[in-house]
Amino acid sequence: MDVAVKTVVKAKSEKTLPVIKKVGVIGAGQMGSGIAHVVALSGYDVVLNDIKADAIAKSIDLIEKNMGRQAQKGTIKEADIKPAIKRIKAATSQDALSDCDLVIEAATEDESVKRKIFQELCPRLKKSALVATNTSSISITRLAAATDRPEHFIGMHFMNPVPRMELVELIRGIATEDDMFQVARRFVDSLGKITAVSEDFPAFIVNRILLPMINEAVYTLYEGVGTVEAIDKAMRLGAHHPMGPLELADFIGLDTCLAVMQVLYEGLSDSKYRPCPLLVKYVEAGWLGRKTNRGFYDYRGEKPVPTR
Ligand SMILES: NC(=O)c1ccc[n+]([C@@H]2O[C@H](COP(=O)([O-])OP(=O)(O)OC[C@H]3O[C@@H](n4cnc5c(N)ncnc54)[C@H](O)[C@@H]3O)[C@@H](O)[C@H]2O)c1
Repeated sequence: MDVAVKTVVKAKSEKTLPVIKKVGVIGAGQMGSGIAHVVALSGYDVVLNDIKADAIAKSIDLIEKNMGRQAQKGTIKEADIKPAIKRIKAATSQDALSDCDLVIEAATEDESVKRKIFQELCPRLKKSALVATNTSSISITRLAAATDRPEHFIGMHFMNPVPRMELVELIRGIATEDDMFQVARRFVDSLGKITAVSEDFPAFIVNRILLPMINEAVYTLYEGVGTVEAIDKAMRLGAHHPMGPLELADFIGLDTCLAVMQVLYEGLSDSKYRPCPLLVKYVEAGWLGRKTNRGFYDYRGEKPVPTR
Protein backbone atom coordinates (compact mmCIF):
# COMPACT_ATOMS: atom_id res chain seq x y z
CA MET A 1 0.00 0.00 0.00
CA ASP A 2 2.21 2.82 -1.21
CA VAL A 3 -0.47 5.41 -1.87
CA ALA A 4 -0.65 7.70 1.13
CA VAL A 5 -3.99 7.59 2.88
CA LYS A 6 -4.52 11.03 4.30
CA THR A 7 -7.21 11.96 6.75
CA VAL A 8 -9.29 14.90 5.59
CA VAL A 9 -12.40 15.53 7.61
CA LYS A 10 -15.05 18.17 7.17
CA ALA A 11 -16.83 19.09 10.36
CA LYS A 12 -20.60 19.65 10.42
CA SER A 13 -19.84 23.37 10.47
CA GLU A 14 -17.80 22.85 7.25
CA LYS A 15 -14.75 24.04 9.19
CA THR A 16 -11.69 22.23 7.81
CA LEU A 17 -10.14 19.95 10.36
CA PRO A 18 -6.47 18.96 10.63
CA VAL A 19 -5.13 16.80 7.83
CA ILE A 20 -2.91 14.06 9.18
CA LYS A 21 0.24 13.47 7.14
CA LYS A 22 3.02 13.19 9.68
CA VAL A 23 2.68 11.10 12.84
CA GLY A 24 5.00 11.11 15.85
CA VAL A 25 5.32 8.00 18.01
CA ILE A 26 6.88 8.38 21.46
CA GLY A 27 8.32 5.16 22.91
CA ALA A 28 9.96 2.57 20.66
CA GLY A 29 9.12 -0.47 22.80
CA GLN A 30 6.82 -3.26 21.67
CA MET A 31 3.77 -1.02 21.22
CA GLY A 32 5.53 2.01 19.71
CA SER A 33 7.22 -0.35 17.21
CA GLY A 34 3.92 -1.93 16.25
CA ILE A 35 2.20 1.44 15.88
CA ALA A 36 5.06 2.88 13.76
CA HIS A 37 4.91 -0.30 11.61
CA VAL A 38 1.20 -0.01 10.83
CA VAL A 39 1.19 3.79 10.43
CA ALA A 40 4.17 3.77 8.00
CA LEU A 41 2.62 0.92 5.94
CA SER A 42 -0.54 3.02 5.64
CA GLY A 43 1.41 5.77 3.89
CA TYR A 44 2.05 8.28 6.68
CA ASP A 45 5.43 9.78 7.52
CA VAL A 46 6.51 8.63 10.97
CA VAL A 47 8.91 10.13 13.52
CA LEU A 48 9.85 7.49 16.10
CA ASN A 49 11.15 8.88 19.38
CA ASP A 50 12.62 7.17 22.45
CA ILE A 51 14.99 8.27 25.20
CA LYS A 52 17.17 5.28 24.26
CA ALA A 53 18.80 5.52 20.80
CA ASP A 54 19.41 1.75 20.77
CA ALA A 55 15.70 1.10 21.39
CA ILE A 56 14.85 3.04 18.21
CA ALA A 57 17.47 1.20 16.12
CA LYS A 58 16.25 -2.17 17.45
CA SER A 59 12.66 -1.17 16.80
CA ILE A 60 13.28 -0.24 13.14
CA ASP A 61 15.15 -3.55 12.61
CA LEU A 62 12.26 -5.44 14.17
CA ILE A 63 9.70 -3.58 12.05
CA GLU A 64 11.58 -4.54 8.88
CA LYS A 65 11.79 -8.19 10.00
CA ASN A 66 8.09 -8.28 10.89
CA MET A 67 7.12 -6.70 7.56
CA GLY A 68 9.25 -9.36 5.84
CA ARG A 69 7.26 -12.04 7.67
CA GLN A 70 3.99 -10.43 6.59
CA ALA A 71 5.20 -10.36 2.96
CA GLN A 72 6.08 -14.09 3.16
CA LYS A 73 2.56 -14.81 4.38
CA GLY A 74 1.16 -12.65 1.57
CA THR A 75 -0.59 -10.16 3.86
CA ILE A 76 1.47 -7.24 2.45
CA LYS A 77 3.44 -6.70 -0.76
CA GLU A 78 7.23 -7.09 -0.65
CA ALA A 79 7.51 -3.87 -2.70
CA ASP A 80 5.77 -1.87 0.08
CA ILE A 81 8.43 -2.67 2.70
CA LYS A 82 11.28 -0.40 1.59
CA PRO A 83 9.15 2.74 1.10
CA ALA A 84 7.47 2.16 4.48
CA ILE A 85 10.80 1.76 6.31
CA LYS A 86 12.07 4.91 4.54
CA ARG A 87 9.10 6.84 5.90
CA ILE A 88 10.19 6.12 9.52
CA LYS A 89 12.67 8.65 10.90
CA ALA A 90 14.49 7.98 14.18
CA ALA A 91 14.55 10.84 16.71
CA THR A 92 16.18 10.88 20.14
CA SER A 93 14.92 14.44 20.72
CA GLN A 94 11.30 15.56 20.86
CA ASP A 95 12.30 18.56 18.69
CA ALA A 96 11.87 16.33 15.63
CA LEU A 97 8.17 15.98 16.49
CA SER A 98 7.42 19.70 16.13
CA ASP A 99 5.76 19.48 12.69
CA CYS A 100 3.73 16.34 13.37
CA ASP A 101 -0.04 16.54 12.88
CA LEU A 102 -0.64 13.74 15.38
CA VAL A 103 1.61 12.41 18.15
CA ILE A 104 0.85 9.03 19.71
CA GLU A 105 2.50 8.49 23.08
CA ALA A 106 3.41 4.82 23.74
CA ALA A 107 6.03 5.14 26.50
CA THR A 108 6.22 3.13 29.74
CA GLU A 109 2.92 2.72 31.65
CA ASP A 110 3.78 5.20 34.41
CA GLU A 111 1.72 8.32 34.92
CA SER A 112 4.66 10.51 35.99
CA VAL A 113 6.65 9.49 32.87
CA LYS A 114 3.69 10.28 30.61
CA ARG A 115 2.90 13.63 32.30
CA LYS A 116 6.52 14.72 31.90
CA ILE A 117 6.49 13.72 28.22
CA PHE A 118 3.35 15.83 27.55
CA GLN A 119 4.70 18.82 29.46
CA GLU A 120 7.87 18.78 27.35
CA LEU A 121 6.13 17.90 24.09
CA CYS A 122 3.22 20.34 23.90
CA PRO A 123 5.17 23.63 23.71
CA ARG A 124 7.03 22.19 20.69
CA LEU A 125 3.88 21.26 18.73
CA LYS A 126 1.77 23.36 16.40
CA LYS A 127 -1.54 24.44 17.88
CA SER A 128 -3.64 22.24 15.60
CA ALA A 129 -1.76 19.02 16.41
CA LEU A 130 -3.72 16.18 17.97
CA VAL A 131 -2.11 14.30 20.87
CA ALA A 132 -3.06 10.70 21.67
CA THR A 133 -1.98 8.26 24.35
CA ASN A 134 -1.78 4.49 24.04
CA THR A 135 -2.09 4.04 27.83
CA SER A 136 -3.63 0.72 28.87
CA SER A 137 -5.34 2.07 31.94
CA ILE A 138 -4.58 5.64 33.05
CA SER A 139 -7.33 8.31 33.05
CA ILE A 140 -7.40 10.20 29.73
CA THR A 141 -8.92 13.22 31.47
CA ARG A 142 -6.06 13.32 34.01
CA LEU A 143 -3.36 12.93 31.33
CA ALA A 144 -5.11 15.59 29.19
CA ALA A 145 -4.80 17.98 32.13
CA ALA A 146 -1.00 17.68 31.86
CA THR A 147 -1.19 19.11 28.30
CA ASP A 148 -1.97 22.58 26.96
CA ARG A 149 -4.71 21.07 24.74
CA PRO A 150 -7.24 18.83 26.56
CA GLU A 151 -9.68 19.48 23.66
CA HIS A 152 -7.16 17.96 21.23
CA PHE A 153 -6.26 14.99 23.43
CA ILE A 154 -7.59 11.43 23.15
CA GLY A 155 -6.97 7.84 24.23
CA MET A 156 -6.01 5.66 21.23
CA HIS A 157 -5.45 2.20 22.68
CA PHE A 158 -3.87 -0.22 20.19
CA MET A 159 -3.70 -3.94 20.95
CA ASN A 160 -0.57 -6.11 21.00
CA PRO A 161 0.76 -7.19 18.47
CA VAL A 162 -0.43 -4.10 16.58
CA PRO A 163 0.04 -5.41 13.01
CA ARG A 164 -2.14 -8.47 13.77
CA MET A 165 -4.82 -7.13 16.12
CA GLU A 166 -7.85 -5.51 14.53
CA LEU A 167 -9.11 -3.41 17.45
CA VAL A 168 -8.25 0.09 18.65
CA GLU A 169 -10.17 1.46 21.64
CA LEU A 170 -10.93 5.18 21.44
CA ILE A 171 -11.45 7.03 24.69
CA ARG A 172 -12.58 10.64 25.00
CA GLY A 173 -11.39 12.73 27.93
CA ILE A 174 -13.94 15.06 29.52
CA ALA A 175 -12.80 17.92 27.24
CA THR A 176 -12.10 16.04 23.97
CA GLU A 177 -13.77 17.96 21.10
CA ASP A 178 -16.13 15.95 18.95
CA ASP A 179 -14.38 17.09 15.76
CA MET A 180 -11.06 15.80 17.11
CA PHE A 181 -12.71 12.52 18.03
CA GLN A 182 -13.85 12.19 14.39
CA VAL A 183 -10.33 12.98 13.11
CA ALA A 184 -8.96 10.25 15.40
CA ARG A 185 -11.62 7.77 14.29
CA ARG A 186 -10.96 8.40 10.56
CA PHE A 187 -7.23 8.04 11.20
CA VAL A 188 -7.73 4.64 12.86
CA ASP A 189 -10.07 3.59 10.00
CA SER A 190 -7.32 4.56 7.51
CA LEU A 191 -5.00 2.05 9.23
CA GLY A 192 -7.50 -0.71 8.47
CA LYS A 193 -8.38 -1.10 12.16
CA ILE A 194 -11.76 -1.28 13.85
CA THR A 195 -12.65 1.06 16.70
CA ALA A 196 -14.56 0.40 19.90
CA VAL A 197 -15.48 3.42 21.98
CA SER A 198 -14.93 3.24 25.73
CA GLU A 199 -15.80 5.72 28.44
CA ASP A 200 -12.90 7.08 30.46
CA PHE A 201 -12.82 4.69 33.45
CA PRO A 202 -9.79 2.77 34.74
CA ALA A 203 -8.39 0.31 32.14
CA PHE A 204 -11.28 1.03 29.71
CA ILE A 205 -13.04 -2.09 28.30
CA VAL A 206 -10.48 -4.69 27.17
CA ASN A 207 -8.11 -4.43 30.12
CA ARG A 208 -10.91 -4.01 32.68
CA ILE A 209 -11.90 -7.56 31.75
CA LEU A 210 -8.58 -9.12 30.66
CA LEU A 211 -6.20 -8.01 33.41
CA PRO A 212 -8.27 -9.24 36.40
CA MET A 213 -8.35 -12.63 34.62
CA ILE A 214 -4.54 -12.60 34.30
CA ASN A 215 -4.17 -11.45 37.95
CA GLU A 216 -6.46 -14.31 39.03
CA ALA A 217 -4.24 -16.74 37.08
CA VAL A 218 -1.25 -15.43 39.08
CA TYR A 219 -3.23 -15.95 42.33
CA THR A 220 -4.03 -19.49 41.15
CA LEU A 221 -0.28 -20.08 40.82
CA TYR A 222 0.51 -18.27 44.11
CA GLU A 223 -1.99 -20.38 46.07
CA GLY A 224 -0.64 -23.61 44.56
CA VAL A 225 -3.83 -24.54 42.73
CA GLY A 226 -1.82 -25.33 39.61
CA THR A 227 1.64 -25.04 38.09
CA VAL A 228 2.47 -22.51 35.34
CA GLU A 229 2.06 -25.25 32.72
CA ALA A 230 -1.19 -26.58 34.19
CA ILE A 231 -2.79 -23.12 34.38
CA ASP A 232 -1.87 -22.21 30.80
CA LYS A 233 -2.88 -25.62 29.45
CA ALA A 234 -6.18 -25.47 31.33
CA MET A 235 -7.13 -22.12 29.82
CA ARG A 236 -5.86 -22.97 26.30
CA LEU A 237 -7.67 -26.28 26.08
CA GLY A 238 -10.49 -25.68 28.56
CA ALA A 239 -11.55 -22.19 27.53
CA HIS A 240 -10.13 -22.17 23.98
CA HIS A 241 -7.91 -19.19 24.66
CA PRO A 242 -5.17 -18.96 22.00
CA MET A 243 -2.59 -18.34 24.76
CA GLY A 244 -2.61 -19.28 28.44
CA PRO A 245 -2.99 -16.32 30.85
CA LEU A 246 0.60 -16.57 32.18
CA GLU A 247 2.07 -16.77 28.66
CA LEU A 248 -0.08 -13.76 27.80
CA ALA A 249 1.15 -11.87 30.88
CA ASP A 250 4.75 -12.49 29.77
CA PHE A 251 3.82 -11.27 26.29
CA ILE A 252 2.20 -8.06 27.57
CA GLY A 253 5.02 -7.37 30.07
CA LEU A 254 4.62 -8.02 33.80
CA ASP A 255 5.41 -4.36 34.65
CA THR A 256 2.52 -3.26 32.41
CA CYS A 257 0.20 -5.90 33.94
CA LEU A 258 1.06 -4.72 37.46
CA ALA A 259 0.66 -1.04 36.51
CA VAL A 260 -2.83 -1.73 35.08
CA MET A 261 -3.89 -3.68 38.22
CA GLN A 262 -2.65 -0.81 40.40
CA VAL A 263 -4.70 1.70 38.37
CA LEU A 264 -7.79 -0.55 38.69
CA TYR A 265 -7.23 -1.09 42.43
CA GLU A 266 -6.69 2.57 43.22
CA GLY A 267 -9.09 4.00 40.64
CA LEU A 268 -12.07 1.83 41.62
CA SER A 269 -11.18 1.45 45.35
CA ASP A 270 -12.25 -2.17 45.27
CA SER A 271 -10.17 -4.93 46.89
CA LYS A 272 -11.16 -7.40 44.15
CA TYR A 273 -8.52 -5.71 41.96
CA ARG A 274 -5.60 -6.06 44.42
CA PRO A 275 -2.46 -7.08 42.49
CA CYS A 276 -1.21 -10.57 43.40
CA PRO A 277 1.95 -10.37 45.59
CA LEU A 278 3.61 -12.90 43.28
CA LEU A 279 3.15 -10.53 40.32
CA VAL A 280 4.75 -7.77 42.42
CA LYS A 281 7.67 -10.09 43.25
CA TYR A 282 8.37 -10.92 39.60
CA VAL A 283 8.37 -7.21 38.69
CA GLU A 284 10.65 -6.39 41.64
CA ALA A 285 13.06 -9.08 40.40
CA GLY A 286 13.10 -7.43 36.95
CA TRP A 287 11.54 -10.58 35.48
CA LEU A 288 9.17 -8.70 33.20
CA GLY A 289 8.39 -11.47 30.70
CA ARG A 290 9.52 -11.81 27.10
CA LYS A 291 11.08 -8.35 26.92
CA THR A 292 13.63 -9.26 29.61
CA ASN A 293 13.80 -12.95 28.61
CA ARG A 294 12.34 -14.12 31.93
CA GLY A 295 8.92 -14.00 33.55
CA PHE A 296 6.58 -16.90 34.27
CA TYR A 297 8.70 -18.65 31.63
CA ASP A 298 12.45 -18.50 30.99
CA TYR A 299 13.03 -17.67 27.30
CA ARG A 300 16.82 -17.91 27.28
CA GLY A 301 16.99 -21.47 25.95
CA GLU A 302 15.55 -23.02 22.81
CA LYS A 303 12.13 -23.58 24.37
CA PRO A 304 10.34 -21.52 27.07
CA VAL A 305 10.71 -23.25 30.47
CA PRO A 306 8.34 -22.44 33.38
CA THR A 307 10.07 -20.59 36.22
CA ARG A 308 7.82 -22.17 38.87
N1 LIG B 1 2.38 -4.42 26.15
C1 LIG B 1 1.11 -4.46 25.77
O1 LIG B 1 0.55 -5.53 25.51
C2 LIG B 1 0.34 -3.16 25.61
C3 LIG B 1 -0.88 -3.18 24.89
C4 LIG B 1 -1.57 -1.97 24.71
C5 LIG B 1 -1.06 -0.80 25.26
N2 LIG B 1 0.12 -0.82 25.96
C6 LIG B 1 0.63 0.46 26.49
O2 LIG B 1 1.61 0.96 25.58
C7 LIG B 1 2.59 1.70 26.32
C8 LIG B 1 3.97 1.11 26.03
O3 LIG B 1 3.98 -0.25 26.40
P1 LIG B 1 5.08 -1.26 25.83
O4 LIG B 1 4.58 -2.64 26.10
O5 LIG B 1 5.46 -0.87 24.45
O6 LIG B 1 6.30 -0.94 26.82
P2 LIG B 1 7.87 -1.20 26.57
O7 LIG B 1 8.46 -1.35 27.91
O8 LIG B 1 8.07 -2.29 25.56
O9 LIG B 1 8.36 0.18 25.86
C9 LIG B 1 8.33 1.42 26.48
C10 LIG B 1 9.33 2.33 25.77
O10 LIG B 1 9.15 3.67 26.26
C11 LIG B 1 10.42 4.26 26.31
N3 LIG B 1 10.37 5.45 27.16
C12 LIG B 1 10.33 5.52 28.52
N4 LIG B 1 10.33 6.83 28.90
C13 LIG B 1 10.35 7.59 27.77
C14 LIG B 1 10.39 8.98 27.50
N5 LIG B 1 10.39 9.86 28.50
N6 LIG B 1 10.43 9.41 26.22
C15 LIG B 1 10.45 8.51 25.19
N7 LIG B 1 10.43 7.17 25.38
C16 LIG B 1 10.38 6.71 26.66
C17 LIG B 1 11.34 3.15 26.84
O11 LIG B 1 12.70 3.44 26.60
C18 LIG B 1 10.81 1.95 26.07
O12 LIG B 1 11.51 1.77 24.84
C19 LIG B 1 2.17 1.63 27.79
O13 LIG B 1 1.41 2.76 28.09
C20 LIG B 1 1.34 0.36 27.82
O14 LIG B 1 0.40 0.36 28.88
C21 LIG B 1 0.84 -1.97 26.13
